[in-house]
Order: sequence, then structure tokens, then C-alpha cells
Amino acid sequence: MNLTPTQELQLNHRSVRRFLPRPLEEGQLQALIRCGQAAATSSFIQAYSIVRVTRPSARAAIAAAAGGQPWIEQAAEFLVFCADLRRINGACERAGKGRLQGFTEHALAAVVDVGLMAQNVLLAAESQGLGGVYIGGIRNDPQVVVDQLQLPSLVAPVFGMCLGWPDEANEVKPRMPVEFVLHQDTYRDVPATDVAEYDAQMAAYYAARGANVKLSDWSQAVASAMQGKKREHMREFLQARGFFLR
Ligand SMILES: Cc1cc2nc3c(=O)[nH]c(=O)nc-3n(C[C@H](O)[C@H](O)[C@H](O)COP(=O)(O)O)c2cc1C
Repeated sequence: MNLTPTQELQLNHRSVRRFLPRPLEEGQLQALIRCGQAAATSSFIQAYSIVRVTRPSARAAIAAAAGGQPWIEQAAEFLVFCADLRRINGACERAGKGRLQGFTEHALAAVVDVGLMAQNVLLAAESQGLGGVYIGGIRNDPQVVVDQLQLPSLVAPVFGMCLGWPDEANEVKPRMPVEFVLHQDTYRDVPATDVAEYDAQMAAYYAARGANVKLSDWSQAVASAMQGKKREHMREFLQARGFFLR
């Protein structure tokens, strides 16, 4: 089957962490955000806010808190995507319904909204020759982000995104076979032999790629990533922001 240009673009995605010292064009960021806003949104809540971070000292503090990720300081744009229940709370109050109760479901809906809008932003950016990378590392110490960006209650940073003109072209990272993730009618565990085949493919990719060559495979890489990214503070942090209260 022939792929559409949109599908080609999607399949060509690779994160970009090295950027040319060149700003985005006039109005380009606003257009990207509009594309993000066009994404579907649960009950039309539009439960996101994006903070464009231009202050070098804020970028430096966040880059350090994210475990030392220099591209946060180097990218033409660094955006922090937040789940935002604050406007919804305002609507509840104006309607005389009292404060938003902060159910887990509301927080989930907001986080899903943020993810959908952000991916639209990134894809729109890639369609214009820009590149970018998500920064979940901001959740290492999310209070730093709150303080730097003066985020009020009911607003929680979910991830960052660096955007700019690419100064590198990484190889596309091979995804799992479709059969791993697409189930028909009922769920089926992936046979261990099939995982082993994907691990072999990923081991070859890690060994041969242009940058950050490593001796690993998919299973090893994710198992070690899961040890390092527990972020045990997140539940308390979100509760303190007014999320996940009941
Ligand atoms: C929510 C989220 C958080 C991420 N956080 C980081 C990060 O903090 N630093 C980083 O360098 N890459 C980060 N990434 C990028 C992933 O490592 C990358 O998407 C994945 O390895 C697949 O590679 P690809 O995007 O080049 O296909 C993140 C991606 C997502 C979706």
C-alpha cells in the first residue's frame, strides 16, 4: 500500500537533540501551537497550557534538574507542556458548581489531552523541517519547574519539548513489529521468541547507530530505564498541585 506524505512524515520521526543556532520564523511557533490545539480533547476541556521558556537562567535550572540535558539550553525553543485543570475549575466555579473535585479521572483526561496536543505540535514542526525531543526529565524535580515558571495550583508540568532546526539526523529507531501492539479481538502476549527477535534487531541498531552506540537490546534498555525513572515523588507532587485527590 502506498503511504501518504503524512504517513511518510510520521514514519520518518526521530528525536533531535542537536540544533543549529537559528531561531524559528516569525509566527511559526504560534502556528505550531494552533496545530496542537486542533487535536481532539476529552469533553472539549482543552486541559493544557504550554509555557515557552526563553529566560536562559530558567532553561539552565531546568536542564540541570532534568539530569543535565544541554539541548534544553541550546534549542531555539523550549516548551513546557502542563496539564491544566485551572481553567476548568474556573468554569465550575462560574457555573456555581463549586471547586473542581480533582478526581483521578480529571487528571488522566488532562494528561491525555497534553500528550495529544504535544504530538500534533511535534508532527507539525517536523513537517516544516524542524526537529525536537520530548523532555520527561523535567519530572525528576518538577518543583524546580513550578518555581521557575511560577505555575499556580491545578497546573502540573508533564513534559518539556525542545524544538529547533536540526543539526543532526539520527537513524529512525526501529519500532516493535505491528503484531506486538495490534491485537485482534482478544489480548495475546507476545511469544518470547518474537521478543528475542526484536531484541536482536535492536541490539544491531544500538551497535551500529551513528551516535551513542551501546551494547544493549530493547529488553535490557527498558529494564534499566525503569530502574532509574521511578520518580517516587510524583504522586505527592500531583496531589499538592490539586491533581489525583480522590
Ligand atoms: C514523554 C517523553 C519523555 C521523554 N523524555 C526524554 C528526555 O528527558 N530526554 C531525552 O533525551 N529524550 C526523551 N524522550 C525521547 C525518547 O527517548 C525517544 O522518543 C525514544 O527513545 C524513541 O526515539 P525517537 O523519538 O528518536 O524515535 C522522551 C520521549 C517521550 C515521549
